[in-house]
Order: sequence, then structure tokens, then C-alpha cells
Amino acid sequence: MRKKIVAGNWKMNTDYPQGLWLASEVVNMVNDEVLSNVTVILAPPFSHLYGVGQLIKESPKVHLAAQNCGSEKSGAFTGEVSASMVKSVGAEYVIIGHSERRHIYGENNAMVERKIKLSLETGLYPIFCCGETLNERNSGKHFQVINSQLEEALFELTENEISRVVIAYEPVWAIGTGVNATSHQAQEIHHFIRNSIKEKYGESISDSTSILYGGSCNSKNAKELFCNPDVDGGLIGGASLKSREFVDIIKMI
Ligand code: PGA
Repeated sequence: MRKKIVAGNWKMNTDYPQGLWLASEVVNMVNDEVLSNVTVILAPPFSHLYGVGQLIKESPKVHLAAQNCGSEKSGAFTGEVSASMVKSVGAEYVIIGHSERRHIYGENNAMVERKIKLSLETGLYPIFCCGETLNERNSGKHFQVINSQLEEALFELTENEISRVVIAYEPVWAIGTGVNATSHQAQEIHHFIRNSIKEKYGESISDSTSILYGGSCNSKNAKELFCNPDVDGGLIGGASLKSREFVDIIKMI
């Protein structure tokens, strides 16, 4: 059985004390409340990784992710944080290729691929993000776009490597807009992604790959999204900044 995962991507929100407070609230709720078998991941800003990592140690269900990592191992890259650095402060996962990285900071599939390779070499689990823009969907190119994101950033990996990757489908038009993909749209793309993995790597790997949905997911729409056979959880942005709301989403798994 593949893992069910709900990950909170805090983006560039919370100062350090606020971040510790939010993480401790989530840990307390996750410890106290009855949750089904789900892996909870918190992705705070780099500056909070170590502190949040210390806090969540008490909760075996809660894991730590970085929101990004550098595309080089080390060296003269001012402002960058490497995969091994985030691993060394306790992160187990790293989000790679988020649409904000692609569209605001110009990351392309080749760069995303390098980051994935480096994070795998370091022993991290990459959470690879893919998704189409509104224009691409409106012109019927969404399958094609997802296909090239998979082909160019992921499909050079070995079977062993791809087995360690979590995929997040995040339609760009749904991120932070309040307009989530419908349950049908999500399932359709998730099925397409799983089928592409199956064609490339075979059924056993495609069956065990967790594919998360992200984009305006909240406690009201999570159930109808998560109940789809190919949706294995969510990557949550805005709604992960409120502990009650985030834990209510986790409960919808
Ligand atoms: P959102 O963001 O939930 O605020 O739409 C999701 C994401 O960017 O991961």
C-alpha cells in the first residue's frame, strides 16, 4: 500500500516564534486526536527547519521538509541552501519544482531534475511538483505539459530512485486562488501521472507512488479530492498556516 501524505507548505510565512508555535500546535493535535494512518509533513522556511525539527521529534507521525534546495552540491552560490544542508538539520523531505519556483524564479525542468538527483543522493525524499497554467489548460495542453514535466525532470531516474519520489499535482491556476481543481479534474490528472509511471517503470512502482493534490485545498473540499483512487493526500499552502484547519484536512484522509 502506498503512503497517504498531507504536507503543509508554509511558503514565506511566519517568523521564527510563530513557526515554532504553529508546529507545536500541529504536533499536539496530531498526538491527541485519532488520525488514520497518514504521514504528516511540515515544510517551514529554511530559517525554521532546525527548530521545528527539534519540536516534531516527539511525534513519530510528523516529518520535516524543506521548501527547496540548491541545484549545486556546494560552493560559491550566495543565498543558496544545499540538499545536504537541509538534511543535516533534520529534514527528510524536500519540495522541488514548486510552480512559484518555476514561474517566479525561472526554474526549468533541467534544474528541477538536478535538484531531484542531488536530494536523492543526499538521502532526502523529493516531493516533485508539476502542473499546468490556466492558459495551458484552456488550450487543452494540460496532459502534454504534465507529460513533459515528468519526462524531462523525472524519467531519467532509476527504478530505485523513482521509488523514493513523492509527486504533487498542483495546477498553477488553483494555487492560492481559492479555485480548486474539481474532484474529477484531479483524479483525471493523477490517473494520467500514475499511468505514465506505469508505462515507464511498471505497475509495482506506479502502484506504490504517492501522488498528492495541491491548490486551494481546505477542510471543506479535501474529502471529495482525497476520496479519489489516485489521490493519496495533499500539499497544502494557505490552509496549513492555521493548525486547526490543517489538522481538519489531515482528518479527511
Ligand atoms: P494553496 O497552495 O493551498 O495556498 O493553494 C498550495 C501550494 O502552493 O503548495
